[in-house]
Amino acid sequence: MRAVFPGSFDPATQGHLDVARRAAGLFDEVVLCVLTNPDKAGRLPLAERLALLTRMTGDLANVVVDSSPGRLLVDYCRAAGIDVIVRGVRTPADLAHELPMARMNRHLGGIETLFVPTSPGQAHISSTLVAATARR
Ligand code: PNS
Repeated sequence: MRAVFPGSFDPATQGHLDVARRAAGLFDEVVLCVLTNPDKAGRLPLAERLALLTRMTGDLANVVVDSSPGRLLVDYCRAAGIDVIVRGVRTPADLAHELPMARMNRHLGGIETLFVPTSPGQAHISSTLVAATARR
């Protein structure tokens, strides 16, 4: 089975890598797909997000990196032959945010979402905080 782990990855973090690594153990192939989150202002250019993701996942043989200019994740899934969406969940607030999207993606594309709880010690990591601390 092929899965997509979509995200802004702006920038990719050790938390993303943890989820990607664990998903890679569950599926034949995992595509890390950089998408636009309409609720977030972008920081890094797409090329930098892709380069960082590629570097971080270089040791994961069944993980590939991609991006999509399309508006909807389900359109990408259909075009790329993806079976499952993977999303990392750090907190109950994350889950509350993710559930409606998972239901909508199933409604629109008939595709299920697998939630992977982040590992202990990684729940405080977010792209926003990584970017903020990098500017220190
Ligand atoms: O890393 P993020 O910002 O939490 O990732 C969110 C992302 C990009 C996966 C989400 O915003 C998304 O799927 N955007 C594409 C639009 C879409 O298909 N939304 C879900 C339908 S409700």
